[in-house]
Parts: sequence; structure tokens; C-alpha cells
Amino acid sequence: MSSDDLVRVTGVSRDYRTSGQVVHAVREVSFTAGRGELVAVRGRSGAGKTTLLNMVGGLDRPTAGRIDVAGHEVTAAGERELLALRRDTIGFVFQSFGLIPILSAAENVGVPMRLAKVPAAEREQRVAVLLEMVGLGGHAAQRPYEMSGGQQQRVAIARALANDPPLLIADEPTGQLDSETGRAVMDLLRALVNERGMTALVATHDPTLVELADRVLVLRDGRMVQEAASVAA
Ligand SMILES: Nc1ncnc2c1ncn2[C@@H]1O[C@H](COP(=O)(O)OP(=O)(O)O)[C@@H](O)[C@H]1O
Ligand SMILES: [Mg+2]
Repeated sequence: MSSDDLVRVTGVSRDYRTSGQVVHAVREVSFTAGRGELVAVRGRSGAGKTTLLNMVGGLDRPTAGRIDVAGHEVTAAGERELLALRRDTIGFVFQSFGLIPILSAAENVGVPMRLAKVPAAEREQRVAVLLEMVGLGGHAAQRPYEMSGGQQQRVAIARALANDPPLLIADEPTGQLDSETGRAVMDLLRALVNERGMTALVATHDPTLVELADRVLVLRDGRMVQEAASVAA
């Protein structure tokens, strides 16, 4: 593993077995992502994008293969270590935002810091900085249902960055947004990667989003069929 590799995925497969049927959702996929890289994972619905990202993030385990993130062997980690990884090392952004409806924007962003036992004063200060960073400084007190989809996704991004993780995983983050709002969210991710030097792994079939990536991984029926430099890079 080169010292610049933040993510290393080696020969990873994931089979699902349901009522006698076996689905090969991900088949022998290998790739690395360097520090400060924005890597897009493209492929049509059912290609295995979510399965792959969930395994990299420790939400699911491969049937075969090995995954390392920031020096941690995710595939060997026990439940306790996985919890710590998801709290400190990996931030997640989902298509459906996943905010807690009864909490304000600021409280939602603060949740991972509470889990990490960040003292209240420091938490409040960091929450304010994060909301400012995603352009929502004036919206701290609003609840998810009082915000647009694009605003909710920006809150979710701020929350994913709460504990300053070296890796951000985003699964079709613009999938529920109109194209203009989706573009703004993607520009934000690109800017955050540039400013913070974090690594981002972003599943999408949005072509504008793919253009902003440093590299594009293409999945088809669970296999990686192509790894290409972005046309914009
Ligand atoms: N929990 C599951 N049980 C059985 N099959 C699943 C499960 N999750 C996903 N699959 C199957 O695995 C394949 C890849 O799915 P997924 O990773 O969600 O693809 P994508 O995110 O690219 O749309 C699909 O054929 C899907 O039906
Ligand atoms: Mg998916």
C-alpha cells in the first residue's frame, strides 16, 4: 500500500443469498483511492455501487477480499472497531439525506460530535463553522422539513464532516435533487475535497458530477469494467 493510498480495495466480492438464489452484487473488485482524490463510481442501477460503498464504509462485509481505510483493515474489524471507524474515519452521505426530523440543522450536524464526546462549547463552535462552510450559516435553527432538498443535503454533508474524517463516502448524493441543485452540491463536494485534502468516493450516474471527479470507476453487473481519468482532469 503506497503511503498516499487512503483506501485500498483488493479482490472484493459480495454475494447475496435469498431463497436459494445467489446474486453476485460485487465481483472481484480492486482499486485504490489516494489522499485528496475525488473518485466517482459510475454504473447503472443494480450495478453494485451501493454494495461496494457500504463495504468500504464498514456497513456491510464482503464475501471475499480485503478493504483497508486509513491504515485500518475494515474487513477484519469487529463491531466496536467498526463503530469507531464510522464515527472518526468515514463520513457518509446518502441519497435520502438521512437527517433526524425532530432535530434542527445545527443539532443534526452535532450528533456525530456528541457520539465522539466533544465538549458542548467546542461542539457549538464547530457546528457553526461547518454550517457556514456549506453555506447554511443562517439556517442553524431550521428543521429538515423547513429546508429544501439541496439545503438538507448540505446539512448532511456538514454532518458527515463533523469529526473531520479523512474519507467521505457519498451514495448518489444528488439523486433526489434537480440538476441545478445537484450541480451545486457536487461543486461543494469538489471544493471541500480541494480545501480539506480529504478523499471522497461518490457513487453517481449524473454526468456533470462525473466530470468533476479526478478518476471514474465504472461498474457493470458487479465488475469493474473501466477505470479512467475524468475527461475534465
Ligand atoms: N440486501 C440484498 N439482498 C439481495 N440482493 C441485493 C441486496 N442488496 C442489493 N442486492 C442486489 O445486488 C445488486 C447490486 O445492488 P446495488 O449495490 O444496490 O446496486 P446500485 O447501487 O448500483 O444500484 C442488485 O442486483 C441488487 O438487486
Ligand atoms: Mg445504489
